[in-house]
Amino acid sequence: MRTLRTIAELRTALRGPRAAGVRIGLVPTMGAFHDGHLSLMRRAREECGLVVVSLFVNPAQFNEGGDLESYPRDEQRDASMAAEAGVDLLFAPDAEEVYPPGFATTVSVSGITEVLEGAHRGRAHFDGVATVVTKLLNIAAPEIAYFGQKDAQQALVIGRLVRDLNIDVEIEICPTVREHDGLAMSSRNVRLGAGERQQALALTRSLQLAARRAGAGATETEQLITEALSELEHAGVQTEYFQIVNSQTLEPITRLNGPALAVVAARVGNTRLIDNQQLTTHTDRLTTASNAGASADVSAAGSQ
Ligand code: PAF
Repeated sequence: MRTLRTIAELRTALRGPRAAGVRIGLVPTMGAFHDGHLSLMRRAREECGLVVVSLFVNPAQFNEGGDLESYPRDEQRDASMAAEAGVDLLFAPDAEEVYPPGFATTVSVSGITEVLEGAHRGRAHFDGVATVVTKLLNIAAPEIAYFGQKDAQQALVIGRLVRDLNIDVEIEICPTVREHDGLAMSSRNVRLGAGERQQALALTRSLQLAARRAGAGATETEQLITEALSELEHAGVQTEYFQIVNSQTLEPITRLNGPALAVVAARVGNTRLIDNQQLTTHTDRLTTASNAGASADVSAAGSQ
């Protein structure tokens, strides 16, 4: 694996493979790798001839100076993990390379950025994400770029900007990777003390509770949200939001009648964590099962 620092070096390294028709995959990251990042790299390795991982702690998307300063950084460790996962190129530019003096452009997605994370972290957060991701897609021009479902709203924002700006790339969203006890993997988890690590599990439990209740036939989201909030409160975490939303528009849902997303953000001590889970209602399961039956019938008919 080679580590490259400049846009020019990366473009030069990609020119030959691209001309030879090699499929290029990009995994944008901010480093501090864990199994979630590695799952994206491995997926890219399976699907692409050349895998680029970008490692850039993007100052533009941090709304709290302290969060940016304390964001975990260990490039040497990250580089050896990426090499182990089969990554070909690690693109690790410094801030001046990405934002040279005079940089004056912002990519801003409206609507879906204004709720949840956007409402709590401020407009600059998703502007920072959208701008840097647009730049990374322009710089590496991959066929596929990989992101995690853990940042569900970010994934939607990126999907929207790629569609709206006609960027020629496929966006693949990979499942959230969890610790053995269910806590969603996050680079921020290393900041949790032992007690906080236990408290953080309340986020997982709140989502599981909502998923169980929806699966058992509950439809009134207000009730599900109240129960989830009480689970979080009981654990002593500072909840920023627990909501049940349409998984495409992120609009709040009052009555479940199709697939929905439960989303949570909370502070555990000084660490802010987010997580989400798809809710499948009893009716969805029945519909999926009957559709599976119908398509099995169709394919059986087709093969006769
Ligand atoms: O999810 C992240 O790590 C970051 O938001 C991303 C997509 C690399 C942009 O800086």
